[in-house]
Amino acid sequence: MTLTMQHDASIKAAALPDAQTVTEVKHWTDQLFSFRVTRPKTLRFRSGEFVMIGLFKDDGKPLLRAYSIASPSWDEELEFYSIKVQDGPLTSRLQHIKVGDQIILRPKPVGTLVHDALLPGKRIWFLATGTGIAPFASLIRDPQTYEDYDQVILTHTCRDRHELDYGFDLLKRTLEDPLIGEMAQDKLIHYPTTTRETSDNVGRITDLLSSGKLLSDLDIKDFSAAHDRAMVCGSMGLNLDLKKILEEHGLNEGANSAPAEFVVEKAFVG
Ligand code: A2P
Repeated sequence: MTLTMQHDASIKAAALPDAQTVTEVKHWTDQLFSFRVTRPKTLRFRSGEFVMIGLFKDDGKPLLRAYSIASPSWDEELEFYSIKVQDGPLTSRLQHIKVGDQIILRPKPVGTLVHDALLPGKRIWFLATGTGIAPFASLIRDPQTYEDYDQVILTHTCRDRHELDYGFDLLKRTLEDPLIGEMAQDKLIHYPTTTRETSDNVGRITDLLSSGKLLSDLDIKDFSAAHDRAMVCGSMGLNLDLKKILEEHGLNEGANSAPAEFVVEKAFVG
């Protein structure tokens, strides 16, 4: 895909009401990037929700994919975090966006990784792999997260150390934030792990949870459906495996219409 075609697509998007302008692009690794766009004035969303974003194809039709909003609901702009798939229909082109380009954004936020889908609890676990950290980037900067829970634990598992960089930067930005930094300093714990390279914590989150290592590392002795709540975001396999483990611990899956102890959503890929 050439840049010329990319820009043609962007120009077409500019003529439509759903077009938003790119304000920042950061490439974290060869395979991961984040970007910020202008926010439609009327867009309201709950932390953890996703929207459809994309570009126009050469035939003029929109090519859209679900992307979790990675910025907090009080932010003036919207942030997204994406994988780059070299032959992926959208991300093969989206990875080339530049400041000033335009993308399509349908302002209809939806999703299950929302506080409304959970019953009240004391501790919340945000369990992410890869770009599945995106909805939690919004949730860990939502004051409600700290009003509702005594402890907030964000686990992020990636293959390599470098792929954890977005999460480390996110934690720094969160702890330094004038609005929620102080609340987060008291309650937020970051537990990054790698599976294909050594780092401080090595292993799949499923294994670390099942073996008890995660709980002992965090000095938690009372994990229970009575007060632990969880949100999961990763690949289909990760989601299914974690769902099973959480259910074995007595937690039930919730939804907007029937809140319970945990919720799951597939991270965008492709
Ligand atoms: P692993 O390296 O052992 O496959 P991916 O890029 O494939 O989505 O993987 C992102 C991270 O999620 C990797 O660290 C990977 O570990 C881990 N992962 C993938 N599938 C599962 C699963 N079913 N259970 C636990 N961890 C998983």
